[in-house]
This record gives sequence, structure tokens and C-alpha cells, in this order.
Amino acid sequence: MGGAGCARQRQLRRALAGRMEARSPPAKRLKTAAWRSQGGNYATGRNMEQQRRELPIYRARAKLIGQLRHLDTAIIIGETGSGKTTQIPQYLYEACIGGHGVIAITQPRRVAAISLAARVSEEKKTELGTLIGYTVRFEDLTSHKSKIKFLTDGMLLREAMVDSLLCRYSVVILDEAHERTVQTDVLFGIVKSAQRKRKELNKTPLKVIIMSATMDVDLFSQYFNQAPVLYLEGRQHSIQIFYTKEPQNDYLHASLVSIFQIHQEAPPSHSVLVFLTGQEEIEAMSRTCKQISKNLPQGSCQMSVLPLYASLPPLQQLRVFQQGPKDRRKVILSTNIAETSVTIPGIKYVVDTGMVKAKRYTPESGLEVLAVQQVSKAQAWQRAGRAGRQNSGICYRLYTEDDFEKFLNMTVPEIQRCNLASVVLQLLALRIPDILTFDFISKPSPDAVRAAVDQLEQLGAVERKNNQIILTPLGIKMAAFPLEPRFSKEWCRENYVNSRNMTMVMEVRRQLRDICVKFGVHLKSSRADTSNVRRCLAHSLFLNAVELQLDGTYLTLDSRQPVVIHPSSVLFHSRPPYMLYNELLHTSKCYMRDLCVVDPEWLYEAAPEYFRRKLKGAKT
Ligand code: CDP
Ligand code: MG
Repeated sequence: MGGAGCARQRQLRRALAGRMEARSPPAKRLKTAAWRSQGGNYATGRNMEQQRRELPIYRARAKLIGQLRHLDTAIIIGETGSGKTTQIPQYLYEACIGGHGVIAITQPRRVAAISLAARVSEEKKTELGTLIGYTVRFEDLTSHKSKIKFLTDGMLLREAMVDSLLCRYSVVILDEAHERTVQTDVLFGIVKSAQRKRKELNKTPLKVIIMSATMDVDLFSQYFNQAPVLYLEGRQHSIQIFYTKEPQNDYLHASLVSIFQIHQEAPPSHSVLVFLTGQEEIEAMSRTCKQISKNLPQGSCQMSVLPLYASLPPLQQLRVFQQGPKDRRKVILSTNIAETSVTIPGIKYVVDTGMVKAKRYTPESGLEVLAVQQVSKAQAWQRAGRAGRQNSGICYRLYTEDDFEKFLNMTVPEIQRCNLASVVLQLLALRIPDILTFDFISKPSPDAVRAAVDQLEQLGAVERKNNQIILTPLGIKMAAFPLEPRFSKEWCRENYVNSRNMTMVMEVRRQLRDICVKFGVHLKSSRADTSNVRRCLAHSLFLNAVELQLDGTYLTLDSRQPVVIHPSSVLFHSRPPYMLYNELLHTSKCYMRDLCVVDPEWLYEAAPEYFRRKLKGAKT
């Protein structure tokens, strides 16, 4: 840790000393027992069957089964922890609703799909992958016996490309619908149309269940032809919410103070879950926590700091679910991937910074950036909910209640703030001809759709014929790969250089290789020569090219946006004339991440027409 880090440690120790002497809680207690508590303690070794019966949903079981048996479509809402995700699929299966078909439950994130499948499989006393399984990108743990299948929304979308009627499923449950990921939004349209078509064709009916933890469900009901909304009452455990008295101008510092205050005061079995915004922040905070915990007075309990973010190798992600030694406190530093669906054992405290890194897209400039911003109220409630899954809990919100009141009620649907190239490609692969008239639950802006089509055209994935946009043979191949379009041409198999987990890389590579072999792509290694790989990247990512200016700064070639090299990059101290980036991160500056040095000639040969236009634009 450098000078700034030491200063921070000193500052923190002072803050801690001040707070701990006063023995005051880290934040003002404003709301207590906001949710009803019904006791119950999973940690005391109740068996699974008893645990299932203690869930609030259990009281509604018979009624729910009766209603779901007769409804084609239903919206179910209930507070987080009431038992929706783990129980409803089992109720449906046990009551034989849907006959011999498979019950699919989608999750916005893979870590949720995997951990839920494991839990339900344990509850049913079966081996994971038999009766209950999961399918996530690059991993399929299901068999012909699987009747309950957890899968990411992206995977169900891919299955719909092969079978638009989703024939193998008798029930599709779209879970965590309030998250409104792009994939869930597209799935709304896909399952609605599959349900209608199956009815028209007199096929086995498709039951559609939308589940959400927020009350704001009118939109879902309207979209599904006024489908009835079933309300589940009650939550199992109470959660106390604390807000800060004053706004915090440094949420990282405030998080550290809260973590160590809890650490000093609570028994070691009480784990802490802290919501931060991204990998660098989490890794830096993890280092600081480890250093500070080493210097605590003798006799203090030990601390295990576990990071959790999407790009962390899956096996490391799953470490947060494992029970640690009894005398060590578990502190999990996570992005919003732990926000919904997951139950992390032992979490008693949630520290919510109120911040999240989310995509923002401006079609005019073509820039999709990740920017740190405030969460919505719905997200803040979900975060708090992680503290009350197995027992009563406490959530420290590192913002004032007044500020909370100013948060947006709901998160803006991702489809309205991201680059739509993948979505458009997938819709075309699903043989949906006119994207602008697709039955979206919330329509993306026509400009964003047009920008996506332009980008796909530049990549050679689509062409226009008689005023129609159609997939080229290359576009058909691109859509078959579970990657963003710009990563899936002949060079995709070389792109594994970014991954940190080589085991995972081998698995990913194997699957991509299988697809390449299926499509007859010639396989050849370029060994130590990286120029081929970089040249390939230039061909796919030319829209993300940047150019060094005379004053030593960088501008993107596409929209002349000033950008800087992220300090975590190995290129931070160098100034190559041309580079590509994979991601833009907007904090105090617009940072480029995942960089690759390229030759300008490659860029030009990748898209001569595009660069001619750019040059012309620059001259006029
Ligand atoms: O979907 P919802 O938030 O309503 O609840 P759920 O995911 O079905 O989980 C219900 C309860 O089961 C949680 O509150 C936990 O008490 C327990 N559970 C667990 O202990 N471990 C899991 N992996 C999943 C759920
Ligand atoms: Mg759930």
C-alpha cells in the first residue's frame, strides 16, 4: 500500500477510535423491525423439511397450487426470503403441474442459478444434475432426468433460438423479473409468443410465471394480458435498517469504518456482506481490510475477506457459500451480483454503499460506458434483504434517509441503456424480422436499435435486402456463439487470453472449439506470435479504437471522446499510438480497460469504408 493507503489507515484508525470509545452504532437507527419477524433459526440444525415448512410461502402452498394449476400466466410477488424461488418449482413438480415437461426457472446471474439448483437439489435429497439441474454459460449440469432446471436468462434465450416454442418446457418461471436485464426483457416477448403459438397449434400449453420481489408489477400484468397477481404474505426474519446521520463523501472509507466496527463488536459467526461497485474497488478494499485486521489488538477475532464479482473465476465465487472456521469472521465484498436471489450462509450484516456500476449507452456517440451511480430503491431493498435470509439481520445504509428517498423507485431497464447489438443479433436469429415492432415490454429507443443494426452491418453480420435486415452466413455463426457479436468471428478461440482461470479457459475453449468444428471453421494455432490475434481483435473491435494525440492524450476514433488508460493496465506507463479497448469505465475520467496495441493499418483494412468516412468527417 502506498502513501495514500497509509494515510487512509491512520484516518480510519482515528475514526474507529472515536466511534468505538463512544460505543455508538455506526449509523442512526431509524427503522426497526420494518419487516415482521417470525423467529426461526436455520443455524440450529433443523432439517430441510422443517425448514421448508417454516417458510412463509408454506402456509399458502395449497391455495397457490390450486391457482397455478388453472392459470396460464401468473405474476407472483412476495418479499425476498419468503421462499418463491426454491419452493414454487418444487410445489409445481410435486403437484404434477405441467405433466411430464420440464420446469425452467431463469435467473439473471449464473452464481444464483448454480447455488439455487444446489439448494433445491439438497432439499429434495437428490444428486445435483439428476432431478434438479442447472445450465449456465459454458456449464450444463442437467440430464434427461432433470425436471426442474435453473438457468440463466441468457441460456434460455439461446435455447429459444433452436426451438422458438420452447417445447421441452411445460412451465417457464421468469424469476427476479424486477431486475429487468436485457435478456429477461427479451424473454418476456419470447415466452409470450411461444405460449400463444403453442395454443394456436394445439400443442401442450406453456405455463408462464413471472416472479418478483417488488410491488411494482402492474406493467408485467398488463403486458401479459392482465394476468392475475398473486401476493405472498409475510417474511420470515426481521431486518433493522440504519441510515447515516450525514451524507458520506467517501463511501469506501465509510464502509471500512462500518466493517471494523462490526468486527470489533459482533461475534465471529456473524458474517458481513458489503456492496461495492467493481473489481478494482473490491480488490483494493480487500487488501486494506486484510492489512488492518493484521494490526488489530491481540485477542481480536480473525477475518476472512472474500471478494465476489462477476469476472472472478466461478470456483472462487462459490467460496463465499462455504462455511469458514467458527472463530473467523467472514467479510464478503461484492458487487451487485449478490443483490438478488442468493442466500449466503451466516450473513447477519449488510453494508450498502448505495452505489453500483451500471451500463450507460449513448447511441449518438456509440459509447457504452460503465459508470458508478446510485442504486434504485428496489435495489437497496434487495441488498438489505440479503441480511435476513436465515435469521434476523441488520443493514447499514451508508447514506441518509433523505438521500434514499431521492433514489429512483426502480432500476431503468437495461434494454434502455445498453448497446443492443447482441439483442438485435439474437432476435434476428430467432427469426424476428422487424426488431422495431417486436413486442418488447419496454421499447428500446429506435436510435439505439438503428445504431445496433449499423454496428452489425459493419461487422458483416447483417445485410439489407429489399428494406429488410437479414442475417448473413457469418451472422448466423456469430449468433451461435454465446459471446458478444464482436468476439465471435474465426478469432474467438484465440480470445481466451483475458481469462484468469486457466481451467475455466480450457472449458470455455473446448466448448467454443466444438462450435467451430461444427461450423467447419479451420483450426490453427498462431503459437507465440500475437500479431495474428491482435490483428483479429482489430477486425472485430475497430469501433473501440483510440489514437494518441500530439499532447499525449487519447481520443476514441469513433466519437472523438477523450479517454485515459486505466491504472490497472500494464500499458499505464506507455503511450502506444493506436490501441483497442474492451470496456470503458466512467468514474472521474473515462477509463479504458482490457487494452491491446494494434497497427493502424489493420484497423483500416478491417473497415476501409468506415475509416474513410471518419477521415472525411474529421477533415470537414
Ligand atoms: O425467492 P425468495 O427470496 O422468496 O426465497 P428463496 O430463494 O426461495 O429462499 C427462501 C429461504 O430458503 C431463504 O431465506 C433461506 O432461508 C433459505 N435458503 C437457504 O438457506 N440457502 C439457499 N441456498 C437458498 C435458500
Ligand atoms: Mg428469489
